[in-house]
Amino acid sequence: MLGIIRRRIAVLAVLCLGPVALDLDRTAAQASSGAEYRTASYDAARGESLYTSYCSACHGADGEGRPGTYPPIKGSGVVTKTDATKHIRIVLNGSQGAKAGGVLYATAMPPFAATLSDTDIANVIDYERSSWGNHGKLVAAAQIAAQRSVSKRP
Ligand code: HEC
Repeated sequence: MLGIIRRRIAVLAVLCLGPVALDLDRTAAQASSGAEYRTASYDAARGESLYTSYCSACHGADGEGRPGTYPPIKGSGVVTKTDATKHIRIVLNGSQGAKAGGVLYATAMPPFAATLSDTDIANVIDYERSSWGNHGKLVAAAQIAAQRSVSKRP
């Protein structure tokens, strides 16, 4: 008799605690994937207009750059990599003499830290990350703000 009651209590405990345990798992997964940044969407129209004004003269409206002079954004390893740190630093601080896609470019990429806000830099980066077949993880303005305060090297 006692054994049956104990077993019932155990079954009840599993039924009650099961959902709680699942919830805790989900919270832990969110925290470790960096879900504190909201990156599900961005202002695509704004991103495209910023890209057209500030980037397309060198990288092209089609994201293909100009062979030997300006690197392509389409298919770029920096732009499609899940960790966007390098992408953010290049746009904030500019870049020169770093190989892009294994190619050394003689021209320089200008810095945009003084020209564009965190939100605009996030929009133009997200535009690059989701155009021309690119599928990079999107970034949020808070990530741009965080990179402004670290070393200037990309
Ligand atoms: C004056 C021309 C010019 C403009 C304007 C320009 N870039 Fe660049 N960009 C470059 C050059 C040149 C490089 C390669 C830098 C190097 O070799 O270190 C580069 C590199 C990059 C890279 C790294 C590519 C890779 O695969 O490593 C990204 C991302 C990028 N630019 C984004 C942008 C964005 C976003 C804008 C506009 C806000 C922009 N660029 C405007 C010339 C330009």
